[in-house]
Amino acid sequence: MKILVIGSGGREHAIAWKLSQDDRVEKIYAAPGNGGTACENKCENINIKADDFQGLIKFVKENNIELTVVGPEDPLSKGIVDTFEKEGLLIFGPNKAAAMMEASKAFAKDVMKSANIATADYAEFTNYDDAAEYVKKKGAPIVVKADGLAAGKGVTVALSVDEALNALKEIFIDKVFGAANNIVVIEDFMEGEEATYLAVTDGEKIIPLSVSQDHKRVYDDDKGPNTGGMGAYAPAPVCDSKKMDYVTNHIAYPMIKELKKRGITYKGVIYAGLMINGESIKVVEFNCRFGDPECQVVLSRIENGFLDALLASAKGSLGDINIINKNMTAACVILISGGYPKEYKSGYEITGISDADGIDNIKVFHAGTKLENDKLLTNGGRVLCVTAIGNDLKAAIDKAYEGVAKISFKDMAYRKDIGKKGLSK
Ligand code: GLY
Repeated sequence: MKILVIGSGGREHAIAWKLSQDDRVEKIYAAPGNGGTACENKCENINIKADDFQGLIKFVKENNIELTVVGPEDPLSKGIVDTFEKEGLLIFGPNKAAAMMEASKAFAKDVMKSANIATADYAEFTNYDDAAEYVKKKGAPIVVKADGLAAGKGVTVALSVDEALNALKEIFIDKVFGAANNIVVIEDFMEGEEATYLAVTDGEKIIPLSVSQDHKRVYDDDKGPNTGGMGAYAPAPVCDSKKMDYVTNHIAYPMIKELKKRGITYKGVIYAGLMINGESIKVVEFNCRFGDPECQVVLSRIENGFLDALLASAKGSLGDINIINKNMTAACVILISGGYPKEYKSGYEITGISDADGIDNIKVFHAGTKLENDKLLTNGGRVLCVTAIGNDLKAAIDKAYEGVAKISFKDMAYRKDIGKKGLSK
């Protein structure tokens, strides 16, 4: 079987790697891929952009590709699944209407309200004056969310009224997220610990994968600006199996059932960002794809069933398919170009990856890398994701840092405290 994976991050490298382990898979193309997918077993990069739907469809047809797997949210929210399905092509991911769960905060909140899914109280605004009056009345801390996709930058957890007003000014007046992004959701601040629930669905049945914990801030002890994610581990002790079942039954199923009522079949990945405070579990956000780097740890735990689940989800027939996890913990540390998420430089040679990869139970996923004249160079903010599995969280974390110690490139930086919260449980 030939498979196309769309995207170019660590998440897509992990998807390609996991699929390449299945004997039925003969070839995997990554569009556009990265330095890691270029070198991965059975993989080849193709130079077609994720938003070039017609180019991708032509390639899929010409190369008899049986399944396309979409990594990032952008093509999903632009309707890549609808476009492929119109051509009779099998593709894993939600269609445009279902991807609104990530692409519109206001839509997701409305679905949660109708489905009685626990989430922060909120109000929706279409102009600065009304939103500002609401913020002044409610006080801080308060959360301001731009409605549409904003490359992870649309959410402000404002610790003061001035910070919230500034976020509103950026959205409504400065239009930093574009003129079309003119709806704002303002939510009550939630206390607790965040975790990411990932599952695969065909719109009827849900297969939960693992609950993981991401590290969003750039510096140790959750200091500094937000990033795409600096490391992760799974399973996260903050969400034990009883709580995970609760999320499946009281959050994930009600979400897909509510969408069904609205005429939308949600297929693909369910990503529920959770806020857990003791026994209270509330939804922070839904996303319509695997998290990055959550995907890298969640897929590292999978023993078998991944390809079958993706195929069956795309066909709408999960039936009695199951995914079996290894009884192990996975942890990953992201190596960044110093300066990220702000200004940073690229193009530096990376050494030591094969030494790290050569250690048992370590896999180095690439994110911002490129292969040039047989040299591997840094090519982005998040460069590599050193992932390890171990018998428990401490073993997985220690192993991941053992891999990190082998790798170097100019300006390399990383967090030294991945998994600290999990270890303290
Ligand atoms: N790591 C957070 C996300 O993928 O949205």
